[in-house]
Amino acid sequence: MYLTAEEENVLDGEQGETLRKAMEILVALGDIYGADGLIPVKSAQIAGVSYKTIGDAGLEWISDLEGTVKVPSILNPAGMDMLRWKEMGIEPEFAEKQLEIIAAYEKLGISSKCTCTPYYLEGFSATCGDHLAWSESSAVSYANSVIGARTNREGGPSALSAALVGKTANYGYHLDENRVPTVSVVVDHELSGSDYGALGYIAGKEIGNRVPMFHLASTPTSDELKGLGAAMAASGAVALYHVEGVTPEAKQVNFDKPDETITIQRSQLDEVYETIIGSEDDLECDIVAVGCPHCSPEELNKIADLLEGKKIEKELWVCTSREVAQRYPDVVKRIEESGSKVLCDTCMVVSPATEGHNCMMVNSGKALAYVPGMCKVPAKIGSLETCIKRAGGDN
Ligand code: F3S
Repeated sequence: MYLTAEEENVLDGEQGETLRKAMEILVALGDIYGADGLIPVKSAQIAGVSYKTIGDAGLEWISDLEGTVKVPSILNPAGMDMLRWKEMGIEPEFAEKQLEIIAAYEKLGISSKCTCTPYYLEGFSATCGDHLAWSESSAVSYANSVIGARTNREGGPSALSAALVGKTANYGYHLDENRVPTVSVVVDHELSGSDYGALGYIAGKEIGNRVPMFHLASTPTSDELKGLGAAMAASGAVALYHVEGVTPEAKQVNFDKPDETITIQRSQLDEVYETIIGSEDDLECDIVAVGCPHCSPEELNKIADLLEGKKIEKELWVCTSREVAQRYPDVVKRIEESGSKVLCDTCMVVSPATEGHNCMMVNSGKALAYVPGMCKVPAKIGSLETCIKRAGGDN
């Protein structure tokens, strides 16, 4: 891989050990994947934040790093709401380690606004064609597909390396030839809301890591696209998809028709809605969690409208980023008046606080795919309206 004289200099350790290590990671990836060189990135999003997932080894690795990131950089959700962790039932030992992890990242100049939807935040918006180094799979999918920006599905260390160097290796989804659809997916019935998550849950398993071109009977909103991409990235490894007539590249580029076509029937979606993932028993869900990926302002508003004048009976989590929650305090207040919790910085999957529940009801295909394995809690998907009803919010 070609390196400029300055990049060689960094690789030789002339600018310190942290940058040397970061450059070494980028060059190793570039060599493996045949990159021609490094390209500048506009921002970085770094996964590997929850103490639940990275543990002491991860904390030690981050704590040893020195220096300052070169581009706006932000963290993925952590294991707890930084302000309300006690209320979530998080143990003080866990909280202490989690705060240490956040402090270690902050020392490097990384924003501790932990979220999987950085594109809603000031300083992290992206536009079509921008090169990024993001690592949370739903954020990667949204950036590539809905925005038309370009990012590989970075691992925590490679995103951090890109943040420190301000560049990433030019391979994978940064290149036109890897953004061409390789499979068509046809859905000839109308979809709305959580249907897109259920569709993504099914489609991801069949697509694996290919690039699908969807032909849909209805036009999804950006929130629905967010749910579709998140689910496909979880049940499969889809990092980029196109929707005919909707997503930017599908509108701009005249792609050839892929050889293979997958058709997804309404009955397949119905089956996902009827199944409890992770258990054979017909369990009663004792926790409901929405906001995977983190809620947009529109989704928060919709939840507030559905909860208006109601009191919920079960635990109901609404996950979003702190910045979005702080922007709309009245909406948050309207939601919480029902007894629900608007939790920031974290989510139902990466927090240990959901473990030990009987069954979780979600409106997200990604949470459906991950909660049974990562939280050891069986999960069931329903529409947002059904989730609110199951929480007891139909009184
Ligand atoms: Fe975000 Fe957590 Fe879902 S990181 S995409 S809310 S699993």
